[in-house]
Amino acid sequence: MHEYDFIIVGSGAGGLSAALHAAKHGKVCILTKRMAAESNSSWAQGGIACVQSDQDSIEQHVSDTLIAGAGLCKEAAVRTIVTDGPQRIEEVINWGVHFDQKEARDGHLEFDLTREGGHTQRRVLHARDATGKELTEKLIAAVRADPNIKMLENHFAIDLITTAKLDLVSEDRVLGLYVLNEISGEVETFRSDRVILATGGCGRVYLYTTNPRIATGDGVAMAWRAGAAVADMEFIQFHPTCLYHPQKRSFLITEAMRGEGARLTDKEGTDFMQKYDARGTLAPRDVVARAIDSEIKRTGAPCVYLDISHKPAEFIIEHFPNIHEACLGVGIDITKEPIPVVPAAHYQCGGVLTDLNGGTSIRGLCAVGEVGSTGLHGANRLASNSLLECLVISDRAVKHMIHKMPVGKPAEQGYTIPAWKSGNAVNVDELVVIYHNWDEIRRLMWDYVSIVRTSKRLQRAAARLRNLKREVQEFYWNFKVTSELLELRNLVETASLIVECAIRRHESRGLHYTLDYPELDESRPPASTVVRRY
Ligand code: FAD
Ligand code: SIN
Repeated sequence: MHEYDFIIVGSGAGGLSAALHAAKHGKVCILTKRMAAESNSSWAQGGIACVQSDQDSIEQHVSDTLIAGAGLCKEAAVRTIVTDGPQRIEEVINWGVHFDQKEARDGHLEFDLTREGGHTQRRVLHARDATGKELTEKLIAAVRADPNIKMLENHFAIDLITTAKLDLVSEDRVLGLYVLNEISGEVETFRSDRVILATGGCGRVYLYTTNPRIATGDGVAMAWRAGAAVADMEFIQFHPTCLYHPQKRSFLITEAMRGEGARLTDKEGTDFMQKYDARGTLAPRDVVARAIDSEIKRTGAPCVYLDISHKPAEFIIEHFPNIHEACLGVGIDITKEPIPVVPAAHYQCGGVLTDLNGGTSIRGLCAVGEVGSTGLHGANRLASNSLLECLVISDRAVKHMIHKMPVGKPAEQGYTIPAWKSGNAVNVDELVVIYHNWDEIRRLMWDYVSIVRTSKRLQRAAARLRNLKREVQEFYWNFKVTSELLELRNLVETASLIVECAIRRHESRGLHYTLDYPELDESRPPASTVVRRY
């Protein structure tokens, strides 16, 4: 058994920053299922939204976030995260992160802030078009240099161990996790009174997504199985502009490009956004993604176009060097021609229900970053607010844990955690079955539960997912666990939660748009969809 003061699952912005805070108070272990740098965080492009200029204010950032969230944000969460932001930015700069700067009129250097959809001000700090790479590289370096932190790569967290699972009569609290050590192939027990889930989102539940391979909803599924409350999973954000190219399917074209003047057009070059919203290409994401979906359906074209070629080539290459290079690699010169784009699943706005400190309904268990649902995003996330949330909530979660449960005082004694039992499980005989089910889930979610929904499609998805869940559960009991099987088990659980929440919402709000209830339900105050297993 491995024992730590803090166990953190995930090595994205949420997990890494939580570890750096926690290491001031005790021994920390980061478990991460692949290599440390594999996360949504490292793929982040646009930047981190945070009030930095005199023309901007906390009130304006709060107001933009509330407007994007379509009436469902928790204002206290928005206010706290936006207000704590500047201090957390200072901290990451001290950890070595560099944001682009420019010379101001009076000659001193200031942040080169960019703008994205739904923001009324320039407030997005960035490192060219690869902010996430800069952020995670510097945080990983700081983590590796900290003697109090152990990073275990290729360690796949399978399930949480809680007092309720062990049938202890005390209040439900977390005791640790079962973890597949992919190097030895063994399942090991990790013990801690303080566990932070920072496992990110679930974009891979959909056939087309901007997310990397790790985004399989593991944290939400684990917390759900352990009995934690989960909220607002129907609000899956589709990013309007994912590159449409067979050789580069998950490549994002940052919204900052629209912030710098790129136009969305059809193949004739007609800018269609004004037809849908007075804010044009800089309307919030739900509006823009739905407009593109509608244009694609109306014209029968496979994609629309994002065009920045009217700007000088030097400007484009300086601001978007990675996108320029990646597009050139597939034969598109963005300085001369429009970029074919389609919407793709991008961000999970709901997740494990938390308070303002990332605390969940299970004592000792926090959820930070995309896996958690603080109420910041409501029914639709404002661009570049998620990295900010990772940084703010990870700091608050550690402070809260230390306050409630100081290191050195074990929370509870008198239990024995049983070792993992494989029973009569054998090696998976036919991987094809697992891959087939992976594909089936992703396609059915894309076809039945994406940008525009109907009750009939949701019911169809629910029925199919019930069957798949039974099948996957059978594999889980009969075969030795592998990461593919564990991810499949988590995908089907997460997909089911999305569908269950979507079925419960009888209105269209933010990212949840259904033809059967096309309007807001104004007969009652807006409320989150909260689901629990028991
Ligand atoms: P992640 O960064 O996804 O990290 C999750 C970690 O958990 C990974 O290390 C993963 O391997 C690990 N993990 C998962 N399951 C397990 C398990 N079972 N066991 C062990 N480890 C596990 N947001 C912004 O604010 N600004 C942007 O510019 C921006 N651009 C984006 C661009 C792209 C292409 C994408 C995909 C997202 C972007 N986002 C952006 C969203 C943002 O990047 C994410 O919401 C944020 O990085 C999530 O951070 P996280 O720490 O919660 O999770
Ligand atoms: C982007 O760069 O467009 C992504 C920003 C985000 O998802 O917040």
